[in-house]
Amino acid sequence: MINKRLLILTGVCLVVGVLAYFSFRTTAVDELKVPDVVSYNYDVRPILSDKCFSCHGPDPKKREAGLRLDIESEAYKALQDHPTKRGIVPGKPELSEVFQRITTNDSSLVMPVASSKLPRLSENEVAIIKKWIEQGAKYEPHWAFTVPKKSTLPAVSDDLAKK
Ligand code: HEC
Repeated sequence: MINKRLLILTGVCLVVGVLAYFSFRTTAVDELKVPDVVSYNYDVRPILSDKCFSCHGPDPKKREAGLRLDIESEAYKALQDHPTKRGIVPGKPELSEVFQRITTNDSSLVMPVASSKLPRLSENEVAIIKKWIEQGAKYEPHWAFTVPKKSTLPAVSDDLAKK
């Protein structure tokens, strides 16, 4: 009998230990990775492109609520359906409807819309969007449209070739 109890006790301890180990480990792994200066092109656009642009992007036929989030002036302006609010208020995530909609616990308001089956933004993605808005929500031109900078060629000598 005692042996059986001891066995159960050891088993419980083991399970608790393993659980504790993994929960500590994931908190360490889950530490948020948010750059000091958030870049629209590198950090923000990939998130919006995956989770928002299908309904708030360039395609007018698929656009919902008349809201475009891929163009600065459109994202900043008063919302068509709620003109007292704006999609993005630079510097003020708490006033930005975009931030409200990605952080709300109300499933009828959360974005991406529940019916889309798209996953919610991760904690890290939310932190990136928040910091980007706090830092002024600056959009950057798509890399494909930026003029490549001419770099000066390094001075070379052909001494080696002559040897
Ligand atoms: C599958 C389509 C779909 C996707 C993807 C989607 N939305 Fe929406 N969005 C809608 C629809 C439909 C509405 C209008 C209904 C509503 O306000 O809930 C809406 C409304 C909104 C509004 C409010 C507009 C207003 O006038 O009040 C905001 C802000 C918004 N979306 C932001 C986002 C953000 C940010 C993402 C990505 C994280 C996103 N949406 C992804 C369909 C989508």
